[in-house]
Amino acid sequence: MARVKKAIIPAAGLGTRFLPATKAMPKEMLPIVDKPTIQYIVEEAIQSGIEDIIIVTGKGKRAIEDHFDSAFELEHKLLESRKLDLLEKVQKSSRMADIHYIRQKEPRGLGHAVWCARKFIGDEPFAVLLGDDIVRSEIPCLRQLILQYEQTGSTIIGIKPVLPEEVGRYGIIDPGRQQGDLYKVKALVEKPEPSQAPSTFAIMGRYILNPSIFDCLENADAGAGGEIQLTDAIQQLVASEPVHAYHFEGVRYDVGEKLGYILTSLDFALASSELQAPILKALDERLNLYRAFTG
Ligand code: UTP
Repeated sequence: MARVKKAIIPAAGLGTRFLPATKAMPKEMLPIVDKPTIQYIVEEAIQSGIEDIIIVTGKGKRAIEDHFDSAFELEHKLLESRKLDLLEKVQKSSRMADIHYIRQKEPRGLGHAVWCARKFIGDEPFAVLLGDDIVRSEIPCLRQLILQYEQTGSTIIGIKPVLPEEVGRYGIIDPGRQQGDLYKVKALVEKPEPSQAPSTFAIMGRYILNPSIFDCLENADAGAGGEIQLTDAIQQLVASEPVHAYHFEGVRYDVGEKLGYILTSLDFALASSELQAPILKALDERLNLYRAFTG
């Protein structure tokens, strides 16, 4: 069985949910405490054994390339002023892995972004990681999916249950035969009406895909929102080969929308020994003030 060595990180979306912040800055560069979200994703890929990463970028996404490049002047200044801990942080992002870039000329959907990277992938299984989801887990989330791929040789989709009222925001699977946390997928549906949803198992932003997905994407029509959906292409794949979904272990943070982003920042800050005490104190003061006002 071929090893999963390559990963695609699609980052060419418009990030409309964060406008105007994302007018001139990629949403993937929004920081969680002091690290851009995309760096968490790249770190997860590397910790999962990925050797080559391709980031699909688009208009206005230069900052992503600059972030993973060396910054000679800055590094020189930090070295001169002996700020070695900061220098290490700055250099870390440019020494992480072999990162390549390809441009999606217009944002035609996640499926189209993945298709844009087909020549880089060739004829081997590969991973896709979306920057909207950050996962904190014992074993890196993508590694968990790769381990399942090594058992089944099939396409694996990372899933988590969501609340029934939330299904309309996600791709939802129709689960078939279950073996522990692994489900055979009978069908998938993108952003269903809650009354039509086949389950509450939502597709989170982690996939291991067999290269046969490119045949499905080649002929894909625009689906929900007028975009070429990866979910629709996987649905096509289900008709011709086994596809599995894996309920991975770990806490999943949704950083693709405002409330999720703020709560993620709070949780990550609370996990920092330097920030925890002052944040708890500040929260306590604010809560008391808020309660005094609202009675
Ligand atoms: P999203 O729909 O969450 O991202 O796509 P978005 O379109 O940037 O955000 P909103 O909805 O307008 O706020 C999931 C991932 O797929 C990428 C995005 O960059 C994001 O990481 N994507 C989406 C592309 O690379 N190309 C596309 O055409 C669409």
